[in-house]
Amino acid sequence: MTAPLLEIRNLGKRFASRQGREAATWVIQGLSFSVPDGEFLTIIGPSGSGKSTLLNMIAQIDVASDGEILFNGDNIGVLDQKSLKPGLDRRVGYVTQDDNLLPWRTTLDNVLFPLEVQGRLDDKARARAESLIKAVGLSGYEKYYPHELSGGMRKRTSLIRTLVYDPPVILMDEPFAAVDAQTRTQLQEDLLRLWEMGRKTIIFVTHDIAEAVALGDRTLVLTKQPTRIASEHKIPFGRPRNVKDIFALPGFAQVYESIRAEIQ
Ligand SMILES: Nc1ncnc2c1ncn2[C@@H]1O[C@H](COP(=O)(O)OP(=O)(O)O)[C@@H](O)[C@H]1O
Ligand SMILES: [Mg+2]
Repeated sequence: MTAPLLEIRNLGKRFASRQGREAATWVIQGLSFSVPDGEFLTIIGPSGSGKSTLLNMIAQIDVASDGEILFNGDNIGVLDQKSLKPGLDRRVGYVTQDDNLLPWRTTLDNVLFPLEVQGRLDDKARARAESLIKAVGLSGYEKYYPHELSGGMRKRTSLIRTLVYDPPVILMDEPFAAVDAQTRTQLQEDLLRLWEMGRKTIIFVTHDIAEAVALGDRTLVLTKQPTRIASEHKIPFGRPRNVKDIFALPGFAQVYESIRAEIQ
C-alpha cells in the first residue's frame, strides 16, 4: 500500500484567550485522518467547529498547538509562528470563502497573478490559463474587471486562479456558501468537471450535507468542540457525476440520513 499524500495525526489547536487570564480552550483536539493522492475528500461540520482553523493549519497560514501534519511522509506541521510558509511552497492551493480577486486586475490577469508572482509566466502557463477560462465558460470575459462579473463568475475566476499553478493539494473552504442555490449547483458541476481533468487531491469543507455527498469520494463528519473526526462515510456514487440528479440516486437518502444523524 502506498503512503497517503496527507496525514493528520493527533492535531490540536487552542487560541489564547483575549484577556490572557483564563486557560486557552482547545478548539481542535486529537484530530486524525489521512488522504490518499487524488481523493476528493469532503469534511462537514457545523459553523464554529474549526473547519477554517483546520485548513489554515494545513496551508501553514496558522500554527498547530499539538500533533503532526505529514505531507508525502514529511512532517510539515508547524508549532511556531516564525516558521510558517503560507501555501507550503506552492504545494497547497487554498480557495477561501471570499474570492479575494484583485479589483484592479482583469479576469485573465487575476488568473495569471499567482504564476506571475512565482515567476512562471511562460507560454505554456498562458495556454493553461486560457484552457481553464474556457472550461468554466469565461471565454469573452478575459478583459472584464471583478466588479463587472456576477458572483458565480468571480467564484469561477478564483477557482481557476488556484488550479492554474497546479498544486498537488487543494483546500477549499465553503467556497460556494455565499451564492444562490442555482449558481451553486452550476459551480459544483464546474468543479467536478475541472477535477476530472486533473484529479488533484481536494479537501473541501462545507456545512451542507448534500454538497458533501454530491462532491466527495468520502465524507468526514466533525464532532463538537474540541473537534475531532466523529465518523467517516464512503460515498457510493461513481464518476463522472451529475450533481443535479444526485438526490434521485439509490443510496443518496441513506448516506444523507446517516450523516445527518451524526451531526445532531
Ligand atoms: N484567531 C482566533 N482567535 C481566537 N479564536 C478563534 C480564532 N479563529 C477561530 N477561533 C475560534 O475557533 C473556533 C473555530 O472557528 P472556525 O475554524 O472559523 O470554525 P468554522 O470554520 O468551522 O466555522 C470558533 O470557536 C472560533 O471562535
Ligand atoms: Mg469557516
